[in-house]
Amino acid sequence: MDLGPSVIPTHYCHRTACLAVLFVVAGLCVSGCRPGTADAAVRGKQLFETCVPCHGQSGEGNAQLGAPNIGGMKAWYVEAQLRKFRSGARGAQFNDAEGMRMRPMALSLDSDQDVQIVSRYVESLPERPRGPLPKGDVHAGDTQYHAVCGGCHGPNGGGNQALKAPRLAGVDDWYLNTQLRKFKNGVRGADPKDAEGRLMAPMAKTLANEDAIRNVVAYIATLKP
Ligand code: HEC
Ligand code: HEC
Repeated sequence: MDLGPSVIPTHYCHRTACLAVLFVVAGLCVSGCRPGTADAAVRGKQLFETCVPCHGQSGEGNAQLGAPNIGGMKAWYVEAQLRKFRSGARGAQFNDAEGMRMRPMALSLDSDQDVQIVSRYVESLPERPRGPLPKGDVHAGDTQYHAVCGGCHGPNGGGNQALKAPRLAGVDDWYLNTQLRKFKNGVRGADPKDAEGRLMAPMAKTLANEDAIRNVVAYIATLKP
């Protein structure tokens, strides 16, 4: 950044005021001028253009397309999932229509660095306000959640990076429902390369039937992200 005389109009400002301006400019540089930070944000936005047709401009999601809301999702989890779609650990089964829609998009990213950059951009997007609560027995769901799920996903569904368990609070209820069915049916979490999915799949099997899935999702929908 050029801090030369052309930036500071010395002829019409008082000397102390000019010094103050200089300090502000210098201060901004300390926090915001690290090399690459601004470039990464620009690149992230550029890369995210590929994602907008399905996930929306702010990552708000599109139920018709089966694309979940991802705005504000933790970068570590976005990155892990993009890598799974790229390797075929997720979204490569012929009976996984939505996963097969997503997989070529993850493969369209050129490099590991682009995967990281777009993941950070997704995390920087705003979280979408919660929609109407889905139907289900919240009390039964609460019991099930705290007996089985909370140990990994956290008591308030906030997630646990150390266990690689994502946040569930704030995620679309229809999407949670679909994923739980996919884990149960072996459409997700069955690939030998998918260590975390293989940990999750038996947990989904503790949900005995559609009602049990609906109830636990109804409870998760009440949790604050
Ligand atoms: C053609 C539509 C489409 C495009 C474009 C697309 N996605 Fe997706 N995405 C989906 C669908 C559908 C799913 C749900 C897959 C499933 O049900 O397993 C998904 C799932 C995901 C997930 C998993 C979320 C979770 O909670 O596990 C992430 C992360 C994601 N997409 C990120 C991206 C990013 C980043 C881009 C751009 C590089 C992108 N998507 C482009 C359709 C799309
Ligand atoms: C042993 C730890 C553990 C337990 C217990 C557990 N999960 Fe998970 N869960 C995970 C991990 C790890 C993942 C990430 C899988 C991956 O990377 O694909 C996950 C993923 C998920 C997802 C996919 C989220 C998304 O954004 O795609 C849902 C939904 C989910 N779990 C719900 C539940 C529910 C409901 C329960 C209780 C019945 C539960 N989990 C119990 C570890 C656990």
